[in-house]
Amino acid sequence: MRLRGRGTRAAPASGVAAGDARRLAPPGRNPFVHELRLSALQKAQVAFMTLTLFPIRLLVAAFMMLLAWPFALVASLGPAEKEPEQPLALWRRVVDLLLKAIMRTMWFAGGFHHVVVKGQRALPTEAAILTLAPHSSYFDAIPVTMTMSSIVMKAESRDIPIWGTLIRYIRPVFVSRSDQDSRRKTVEEIRRRAQSGGKWPQIMIFPEGTCTNRTCLITFKPGAFIPGVPVQPVVLRYPNKLDTITWTWRGPRALEILWLTLCQFHNRVEIEFLPVYSPSEEEKRNPALYASNVRHVMAE
Ligand SMILES: *[C@@H]1O[C@H](CO)[C@@H](O)[C@H](O)[C@H]1NC(C)=O
Repeated sequence: MRLRGRGTRAAPASGVAAGDARRLAPPGRNPFVHELRLSALQKAQVAFMTLTLFPIRLLVAAFMMLLAWPFALVASLGPAEKEPEQPLALWRRVVDLLLKAIMRTMWFAGGFHHVVVKGQRALPTEAAILTLAPHSSYFDAIPVTMTMSSIVMKAESRDIPIWGTLIRYIRPVFVSRSDQDSRRKTVEEIRRRAQSGGKWPQIMIFPEGTCTNRTCLITFKPGAFIPGVPVQPVVLRYPNKLDTITWTWRGPRALEILWLTLCQFHNRVEIEFLPVYSPSEEEKRNPALYASNVRHVMAE
């Protein structure tokens, strides 16, 4: 009796295709926790770096952001909703290159000396939407500044001094929390841009919608999938021994993450572009199914 009782209780958990469930959302576990424990040696290293390289890195990174600001400001003047002119004016292309270089230098100063890129980024006409996962930190801005793709983000970010100007430069799709109708408008705007035939920059979307500690992929929000256009999945990895990157609601705070990351001599990051995923007729009709299938591909 006791054995059978245990067997039936265990059934639901093991019934959800064990292998799959582990890479997707493990039942009863919560990936929004990040416990960071430093060994004595790692603490000593952080102390040493805090007194030596950290202030220099912080200064250079801050300077790069300030340097980017006037360029982004000039380039983002004018109505944000207007379609970008085609082809881009020469001066805009120069500004784009400059900003990419400045941002790359900023990440370099932060210890991201080498960004490993695997696979090939699709053209805007092949995939207007890139879905990035797992989302675990503000360092996930690295692929955004490398490509200057648009992103979907909350409207309040527009008003952050300096960083807000850089954000406006990439022509994000803003989501307003106060606007009741905001979700529908966001999806419509994503659809409009996705169907522009490459006139708008690609949109990078973090379909998980929030940061996790990368142990699994949480359920994808359907926004990226409702337009029913092909998407290119992009997998992000930070294969570092000590994870100073992860920024979840329970764990180190934003400034602590910045400090500890800048105190690591070298921070590894990997961006893998997977093949473009074209939805079937059924997936076009059913965004939740489309989202779930792309999530499975990415979990692999
Ligand atoms: C990440 O979340 C998983 C699932 O809750 C947990 O088991 C793991 O300990 C967490 N990782 C860290 C480093 O906290």
